[in-house]
Amino acid sequence: MIIKKVADLTENDVTPEAIYQARRDFMQGSLTGMAGLAGLAVSANTLSAPSKIADVDLPSPEWIKQKINAASANTQSISETLTPYEHVTGHNNFYEFGYEKTDPAKKSHKFKPYPWKVTIAGEVNKPGDYTLEDILSKVQLEERIYRLRCVEAWSMVIPWIGFSLADFIKVVEPKSTAKYVSFISVERPKEMPGQASAFSSIDWPYREGLRIDEAMNPLSLMAVGLYGKILPNQNGAPLRLVVPWKYGFKSIKSIVKIEFTEKQPKTTWNMLAPDEYGFYANVNPQVDHPRWSQARERRLPSGLLSPNLIDTKMFNGYAAEVAHLYNTMDLKKYY
Ligand code: MTE
Repeated sequence: MIIKKVADLTENDVTPEAIYQARRDFMQGSLTGMAGLAGLAVSANTLSAPSKIADVDLPSPEWIKQKINAASANTQSISETLTPYEHVTGHNNFYEFGYEKTDPAKKSHKFKPYPWKVTIAGEVNKPGDYTLEDILSKVQLEERIYRLRCVEAWSMVIPWIGFSLADFIKVVEPKSTAKYVSFISVERPKEMPGQASAFSSIDWPYREGLRIDEAMNPLSLMAVGLYGKILPNQNGAPLRLVVPWKYGFKSIKSIVKIEFTEKQPKTTWNMLAPDEYGFYANVNPQVDHPRWSQARERRLPSGLLSPNLIDTKMFNGYAAEVAHLYNTMDLKKYY
């Protein structure tokens, strides 16, 4: 097996094989359907997100805009440059809307994130359906700037608006039998073309999970906004998880259900390719993906002439906060 360096990676190299195959089938299918429509092709590199944050006014109820405006300001001093808004919102992985990085921004306009509710189930004293308004009335919103490192070896620095997952977990009172937290994304094929596609190889809905001590770690964030604005559909509106020391696929979007379980829950990428994507998925430059090196990453924006390669840090630079969670574990085995 040849382990590729990040500088030599192409989009196809980092795509899980099942997805790559489905994307090829899809493209061949649409090419057949498009025969005779030559000239209508749209450049896949066009970013359809606005370039100025001031221009952004996404349709959303007044109450949530007010909540976001009232979020406590960020006091961290960070030395890394924020990834520009148009890249954060124009280069996405959200397979519910398609396989290309630009699909989520282009194809998520039909999706309606408000009103929203989240079902809390399993090993808790206070199960039930919680509206987003209800959830946000019980927690404090704040801005947090985190690095996001995708398993595909690109990364960004994003100013999120969100609340501590631990604070919300305390509200629903997990029982001592709750060892894991499972998260499920929304399933709405009528609004999400990737779910409706006959070429999709994902068993919807998208699902993820954390060990309860990971979920309770102060870094674990539930985001409802970014760059001081409401979360755009392509970034997981109206509510997503952000676990910055893990590869981006753990940061599940558009969450409709949170279940507290005794057993480790099934997770989408692990179900698709267990040899490539583990349950833990901690960012680790010493454990390569079977098909490429994880030692370095492309910090976006990056291009052919200025690839902007940087060294990947253990736990994505958050070792001081989370290394203790894995003290007794062999991270090569539990990747
Ligand atoms: N959540 C859902 N429901 N569906 C997805 O396809 N993709 C994951 C994660 N959450 C995904 C998801 C992956 S692979 C990454 S890298 C991050 O979202 C990307 O988040 P971003 O698009 O906001 O940068």
